[in-house]
Amino acid sequence: KSLGTPTAPNAKRRVCVIGWPVEHSRSPLIHNHWIAEHGIENAVYEKLAVPPEEAKETLQGLDARGFIGANVTVPHKETAFTAIPRHDKMASRVRAVNTLVKTEEGWEGRNTDGYGFIANLKEGAPSWQKNKPAVVVGAGGASRAIIAALWEEGVNDIRLINRTRLKSEKLAGDLGVPLLVIDWENRNQALPGAGLLVNTTSLGMKGSEPLDIDLSGLSKEAVVTDIVYTPLITPLLEAARARGNPIVDGLGMLLHQAVPGFEAWFGVRPEVTPALRKLILDDL
Ligand code: ATR
Repeated sequence: KSLGTPTAPNAKRRVCVIGWPVEHSRSPLIHNHWIAEHGIENAVYEKLAVPPEEAKETLQGLDARGFIGANVTVPHKETAFTAIPRHDKMASRVRAVNTLVKTEEGWEGRNTDGYGFIANLKEGAPSWQKNKPAVVVGAGGASRAIIAALWEEGVNDIRLINRTRLKSEKLAGDLGVPLLVIDWENRNQALPGAGLLVNTTSLGMKGSEPLDIDLSGLSKEAVVTDIVYTPLITPLLEAARARGNPIVDGLGMLLHQAVPGFEAWFGVRPEVTPALRKLILDDL
């Protein structure tokens, strides 16, 4: 339940993205595209640059400033989780919030990153077999949301590869999801039998080194996906495509994670169209 309808007929429905820095955020572009597409005339979506020392106060003061919703991005997702006491299931599991919704029961913190990941995966690779093991590389914030979503989706064999083993173990404990923790040196051995390989690290991003993994043990049917979308086709995706694996780029995750927030704030479920994809691509 959300307060999609403002009390006064002409009241502005204000939403923002909160981050530090926030200049790079594509959320305004995505939501303003949908606002225009659906002709929502009283909606405003803005950027709010908030330094860490002001994050809690800002997050708890959204109501007073007339906001009905917000997105939360780096580095405030964990602060948003603690600042806003009510959470949906995903936010509770991941202990991080990327979407805030003013509801009849007060403000609620949600996490739609995992939803965005799964929606993008299903759209980009309908052949994905979730009864096969999933191999996840990286144990940061993005990995948490993705692992929680894979588990929720019914994937019960998840292999986690991370450079720092301790972080994998902490992640497994925090999420309460049984994971097969694999040491970085043994990463190539995690691939046989897998139905999915996902990179959740920044390796492969423009300006950083690629993810060094030998795909020869991976089944040709396995889907390979990356959360990095600059470049759209990372060296990992390039290598996977060259050997015939289905690949899914990371841009769709960004677009799909925005859908549930928009729907909650404005009462219309928006679509991830090729036009929206092109709009964001042209801005990268
Ligand atoms: P986010 O929250 O955006 O997912 P993060 O918390 O900075 O980002 O996580 C980055 C991930 O990329 C971590 O899993 C990190 O591995 P460590 O836990 O060992 O730090 C991984 N990562 C970053 N640079 C790496 C590198 N050069 N080699 C291997 N892993 C790397």
